[in-house]
Amino acid sequence: MIRRLDHVAVAVPDLARAIARFSEDLGLPLAGTEDVPSETTSTAFLPVEGTRIELVHPMAGQGPIAKFLEKRGGGLHHLCFSTDDIEADVARLRAKGWQFLSDAPKAGAHGCRVIFAHPRSCEGVLIELSQPPSFPE
Ligand code: CO
Repeated sequence: MIRRLDHVAVAVPDLARAIARFSEDLGLPLAGTEDVPSETTSTAFLPVEGTRIELVHPMAGQGPIAKFLEKRGGGLHHLCFSTDDIEADVARLRAKGWQFLSDAPKAGAHGCRVIFAHPRSCEGVLIELSQPPSFPE
């Protein structure tokens, strides 16, 4: 079952500049940065009441974020919802015709298991489902 909005992800061409905008300009605390090799992505997380902003940047100039930046420049990239049973939610959504970008959940940031649904399945928005190692966190 979907439990909450885990994070809103923004694709950024310059991670240091984006961190400065969100932390210094907007005043959100920087909780940390993490490379996610499974997604070829460097991330920074900035919590804000009940959820987080995730800045996503290509790792070593590669991967899906590099392609996104090439096509569209920076901008809103995906919404991530936490679930307490990712297999059940994927099965339920597949039964409704949703398409996922991988066959099964993969290792994401913070030890979560994550899977992405194609934007065409949800009104043009890329959706990430994430199950934390233990829920509730
Ligand atoms: Co994400």
